Order: sequence, then C-alpha cells, then structure tokens
Amino acid sequence: TRTTVGIVGAGPAGLMLSHLLARAGIDSLVVDHRTRAGIEATNRAGILEADSVRLLTGTGVSDRVRRDGQPHAGIELRFGGESHRVDFQRLVGESVCLYPQTDVFADLADARERDGGRVHFGVSGTRVVDLASTRPGILFTDADGVVWEVRCDILVGADGAHGVCRSAVPETARRHFFRTYPFAWFGVLVEAPRSAAELVYTYSERGFALISQRTESVQRMYFQCDPDEDAAAWSDDRIWAELQARVRGADGFSLREGPVTDRSVLRFRSFVCEPMRYGAMLLAGDAAHTVPPTGAKGLNLALADARVLAEVVETALAKRDFAVLDEYGPRALRRVWRAQHFSYWMTTMLHRLPGSTDFDVRRQLGELAAVVGSSAGSAYLAEGYTGWPEPRRR
Ligand code: DHB
Repeated sequence: TRTTVGIVGAGPAGLMLSHLLARAGIDSLVVDHRTRAGIEATNRAGILEADSVRLLTGTGVSDRVRRDGQPHAGIELRFGGESHRVDFQRLVGESVCLYPQTDVFADLADARERDGGRVHFGVSGTRVVDLASTRPGILFTDADGVVWEVRCDILVGADGAHGVCRSAVPETARRHFFRTYPFAWFGVLVEAPRSAAELVYTYSERGFALISQRTESVQRMYFQCDPDEDAAAWSDDRIWAELQARVRGADGFSLREGPVTDRSVLRFRSFVCEPMRYGAMLLAGDAAHTVPPTGAKGLNLALADARVLAEVVETALAKRDFAVLDEYGPRALRRVWRAQHFSYWMTTMLHRLPGSTDFDVRRQLGELAAVVGSSAGSAYLAEGYTGWPEPRRR
C-alpha cells in the first residue's frame, strides 16, 4: 500500500506527528511492535512543559490535560536538610503540568482513532528499506498475520532508543555523541497521600531523591541507586527507610508512607545521533536522542521534534522540494542540545557522584546555594524546566 509519510513508532513523537500531518491534509501510516495495552502499562515521566500542553490542546488532540493535569508553578530544591522553592511563575511567568506520559499517549492514540488515522499496534518483523531512494518502504506483519509493504515519500523513525530505524542508517552516515552515568534511578509507585504540594528534588549525602506525584492517593518517587541494583531485592520497609533518610532534615520534613505497588531500576544516559536525516528517513524522539530523566525532558523533546518535523514535511511537500527536509535536524538539534545540557546539569548538580570527595560535596552544595540564592540562577533553572519557546521562523 502507499502513504505519504510512513512512521515507525506509535509513541508520543510518532502519533503527534501523524496527528499534525493529518491536520495539514497529509496522509500517514504508523506501526508499532508494542500493543496499545503494553504501552499503557509502562510507567514513564510525568511533567509537561507549558508548550507541550499548548500543543496538545491547541491542535485538538484533547482537552483532558486541562481537566486532569495538575499545574505546578514551581518545585522544591532540597539540600542541607532544608527545602528552597523555585517559583516558576514569579521567575518566568510559566508553569508546568503534571500529566503522565501514559495519558499523553492515550490521548494521542484516541485522537488518531477518532480522526480515522491508520495506526497498527502489535506488528512484528518491522524492517525499513530503500532509505536512500525516493520510494522508501516499511515491511511488517500486522497483528492478524497479514504481511504489509508500505511505500512512502518520507519515512520517519520514531521507534525509540532501541528501534530498527537508527540502526538502518549506515554507520559511516551517522555520528553518536553520548555519556553514561555511574548510577541509576530506583523508581517506585506508592499508595499514599502527597507528602508535599510540589515536586521535591533532593540532594543528600546518601544520594539524590525525587518526590513526585500522580494522584491524591498514588505517588511516584525515585532515588539514586547503583545501575546493577536488583529492584526485587528491596522490601517496602527498606525502600521507605532509604527515601526517608534522604529527605530527612532539621525542618522535620518526612514522607507519608504506604504500600509500594511498582518498583524498577531505570538506567540512564545522554545520547544524540547526528544528523537526524538519512536520505528519505528522518529520526524523531528517542530514536535520535536520549536524556537522563532529571528534569523530565524526554517526552517534551519528542513532542517538540514532532512539531518541527510536521512543519518541515508540510513545506517540503508543498514546494515539492525535499531539500527542505535538511532544515529539520538543525532546528530540532538546537533544542536537543539545550535540553542535553539542562538534563546533564540537573543530574550532576543533584546526584552523589561515586568517588566524589568532600570537596566535591561542598562544591555541589555551593552550586545549589548559588542557584536558589540568586534570581538569575533560579530563573535559568525555571526557563529550562518550563521549556524554551520555539524560535519564530524567519
Ligand atoms: C517525574 C520524572 C522526572 O524525571 C522528573 O524530573 C519529574 C517528574 C515523574 O515521573 O513524575
């Protein structure tokens, strides 16, 4: 079969792109090897930048984020046993929204279904072929066992960090930039009331901890751990003792406890693949770049990629000039590298680095004090956290 834009990956980048293209009257087809239920059962990050919220509501995906999302006008940075509020509204006039990626995905999948979009979940054997030609293709077997060959004008790889698309680019035609970290996050879902009004990013000598939220009665928390940590080996009591020890302080702050309903270790790294185009294929979201989770930039970058990509594809098709596609990577990468720096900065400022000396610990505390003690320092954090606006096109 034929389509104008063939998209591998039905995560936020792929589905948002398909949605934006449909609004511009451009046909697309999306495939994903995961089932819808499988994607919805995966816990992901929970913070949307102001522009991500506007993209979801302003393009007619759904208003649910306005009803169910919780606006957060700031965060707490906690160190030396005390919390310091970074007031986003006062500093930059923006808020973020607590709205889990799972819900963003469900809204996008519902919107594609509502609008008659072609999305195939649960496919197998996906291959991308003839990328350097004018008729690239996606080959796959759908959930009913039917074999498909989809030919398109433009192919988009939005199939995540371990997808088939990036690896289909010859190694000589891509360059990888990356950094690994000698720690990971232990992530838990707990049945308990909120312990604080806003998210608490904690630096302690035992390592980082993040107190996030989901609903009135379910909370999301993370603490820095060894990358080889075995999540199953931790009892609820041990998890709570570790979290409490990290947030403890002279102000008496403590966490409200409850049963741990989900636990897993999240390994993390920083990664960028350049360029983001190979022939007729463009990469978007985690297929092109990964950030460490501190600051929750991954989903927001995926949505920003989709917005820029939709605009560039629309122009390329209208002008019948595929050289326009070359504008996508450089435009997307400006935001990607800012977000890489922001995520790296938040990570290294707030984590206990293995092998760190007393000097390093004092220096980190000095950095945190400088950030919360200066409007310029806090405003820099607030700008990055709430997201940089997309520069106007010249
Ligand atoms: C969440 C995850 C993050 O990485 C972050 O910086 C903030 C919130 C979350 O899952 O809620």
